[in-house]
Formats: sequence, C-alpha cells, structure tokens
Amino acid sequence: MSCEFRWEGRRLGRRTGQHDGMAGLWPAARSRRGRAHLTYVAHGRPGSHRADPSGSAFPPHRLRTGAAGVRDACDGLVSDPGNRWCAKGCSGWILAVSAVSAVSAVSAVSAVTAVSAVTAVTDLVRPERLPRSSRYDPAWLLGLDMGPHPLWLLEDLAQDLDLRPGMRILDLGTGKGATSVFLAREYGARVVAADWWIAPEEAAAVFAEAGVGDRVEAVRAEAHALPFEDESFDAIVSIDAFEYFGTSDTCLPCLTRLLRPGGQLGIATAAMTREVRDLGAVPPHIRRAVGREAIAWHTPDRWRFQWEVTELVRVTSARLQRDAWRDWLLWSRACAEHLPDGRKSHQPVIDMLTEDGGAFLSFALVTARKN
Ligand SMILES: C[S@@+](CC[C@H](N)C(=O)[O-])C[C@H]1O[C@@H](n2cnc3c(N)ncnc32)[C@H](O)[C@@H]1O
Repeated sequence: MSCEFRWEGRRLGRRTGQHDGMAGLWPAARSRRGRAHLTYVAHGRPGSHRADPSGSAFPPHRLRTGAAGVRDACDGLVSDPGNRWCAKGCSGWILAVSAVSAVSAVSAVSAVTAVSAVTAVTDLVRPERLPRSSRYDPAWLLGLDMGPHPLWLLEDLAQDLDLRPGMRILDLGTGKGATSVFLAREYGARVVAADWWIAPEEAAAVFAEAGVGDRVEAVRAEAHALPFEDESFDAIVSIDAFEYFGTSDTCLPCLTRLLRPGGQLGIATAAMTREVRDLGAVPPHIRRAVGREAIAWHTPDRWRFQWEVTELVRVTSARLQRDAWRDWLLWSRACAEHLPDGRKSHQPVIDMLTEDGGAFLSFALVTARKN
C-alpha cells in the first residue's frame, strides 16, 4: 500500500503501509490555498482523491467524502444498513467515501491499510448481536481508542438499563467520547461527558463532528469531586473507567448523590472471573502487562455485595459480559494492526489475553437503581 500527497502539483510527501493519512503533512497543506490532491494504490489499483483543508469542516486528517477516485480504486466495498466499508482491509477515509452518517464520515486511522492485515476492521461489526454499535464506523472507533470496543460494552450494558429519550445521563470517564455520542444518538439522551485525562475541547470536537454537539456537554471532572447538583441525573454510566476510581468505598455515595430517586447506575468494568484475594496474587501473565492495576478488576458478585451493603442502591444485574475476553483480544489486535504505533502499545495486552485464554480476564456489567 502506498499514498502520495500532492498540493497543486507539488509533492508533499509519501506514506506506505499503515499510516495516519495526512497527519503531519496537513499543516503544510493548510498553509497553502486551493485543494490537496492525493494519489494512492489500493488493492493494486491506482486511485486519487481531492480534499480542501481550509475551513473548520476539514480538521487535520479528515477528508471529504464522496470522492469517486477512492471508490474506483477500492473494489472491496460492502455495505450494511448503516455503513459501508472495504471487506479487503482498507480503512480510514476509504471507509468514509459512501458513509451515510456524520459519525461514519469521521476517520482518524490510516488512509490505506495493508491488505495483509490479520484483523480486518470488518471483524469489529456484529449486526446480529449488537445492531446499534454495528452502525458505527469501526475505523472511527479505533481512532478514539482508549480500551476495548466501548460501544459493544455500552450496548450490552444498556440491555440491563432502561434508557429513554430526554433523560439526562452522566457518562463518567467518557475518554474521547464515543460512548457519549452513542447515548445521544441511540437513546436520545442529553449527555454530560465527564473525563479526567482527556481535555474537554478534544471530546467536544468529536461531538461536534458527530452532529451531537447540542446534546452532549464535555466537562473535565474527577469522579470524587463531581461539580454537579444533587439529584440532577436520571442515569450514570461508566464504560471501562470505573476500575480507576470506583473501588474506593467513598465513590458510590459521591455518585448516588447525583441521581434522582430511582435513578440508574450502570458500569462496564475490567473484571476477573475470580477475586485476586482468593487467588492470593495477581496471576503472573496479568501482572507482567498491567502490574497491580488488576487488583481493581473485581468479579460481578463482589460489585453486587459492595454496592448493596451500602443500602444506597438495589443492584438490578451483575454479570460477566459474554465473550468479553475474546472481544478484548479482537479489539487489541485491530488496534495493533491498524493504528500508528498500535503494535507497541497493544502487544503487551495481546500477550496477556492470549496467555489467559479466557481463564481470568473478562468485563463485568453491573447495574443498579438508587433507593
Ligand atoms: C480506559 S479509559 C476509557 C475511556 C472510554 N470510556 C472508553 O471506553 O474508550 C478510562 C477513562 O477513565 C477516566 N478516569 C480515570 N480516572 C478518573 C477519575 N478519577 N475521574 C474521572 N475520570 C477518570 C480517564 O480519564 C479515561 O478517559
């Protein structure tokens, strides 16, 4: 795979294999007037694409959709009701060519990905079991990666919740915001997207791009000192974040304070099939990859007890996610293969999951209602 970027006939640079589209080249392009011209080879066939980076509609490495040249070069396009992608391994903006939604049109990973990739982005689509998340461009999700497929976790968790249009929902630990987009679009919720590590401006750009900027507010907030009024939320959800702050005994009261009576709390959190305390130590293959972090990866039963003993909530469901270990491995492989520098950051997790083979590692989905 190779891409060459030209600006008004002048060569800006060339990328081969897996790369981040025009990232890095874009500033050079933006300082000029006119349109960029991108030529590339996909599946051995040449193609070209024109893009105009001036103006806010074209932030770095987001290219215009609907370019015939891209489609011409890629004969592997397949579609489902909400999306189109290349079944042969192309990702990035090639996916966006015929995308139907703003979300699908966003792409932050490679412009052209090697056909030899082992994990096709199409492996990250499950229309039968998870129809709502399957409408979202997997390349867009990979570009926002902070942990295993967040929409699979949320869609599964939501089956144990009663989420309705107009609800005010706190998405605690939203990261780069994919789950907040999902809550606004799929459940018609008004969402407060709170996070500690990610700047609200970065998440807000994702929300604007996805067309939910008017329904999702990005806020920098720490879980133990949340700057919100008592009883101001109908629900709080937290996807792959609770393990970082939720094990403290003081956390649950901080959250239930914010819920109206009967309000719902739902978490999807990294879990173990057995408590570390019962095992006597963190298993070596897990310790090697994540150190003592895994001490916070509890069983669903432990969460149930820990929450119910407070008498602040009634636990409505506490279970391990079906195939969580397999899904986590699939996601990590996709990140390693499709994201720039993905191999370096994801290989230790891949090794951990491979050695685990589903013996200990999983995700817990826990829901409760405020008493
Ligand atoms: C593994 S990332 C997951 C992000 C996102 N939910 C996802 O699934 O892609 C964990 C998130 O938890 C957030 N987090 C960690 N500690 C936190 C704290 N004390 N208060 C609020 N958020 C916290 C981080 O900012 C980070 O974005």
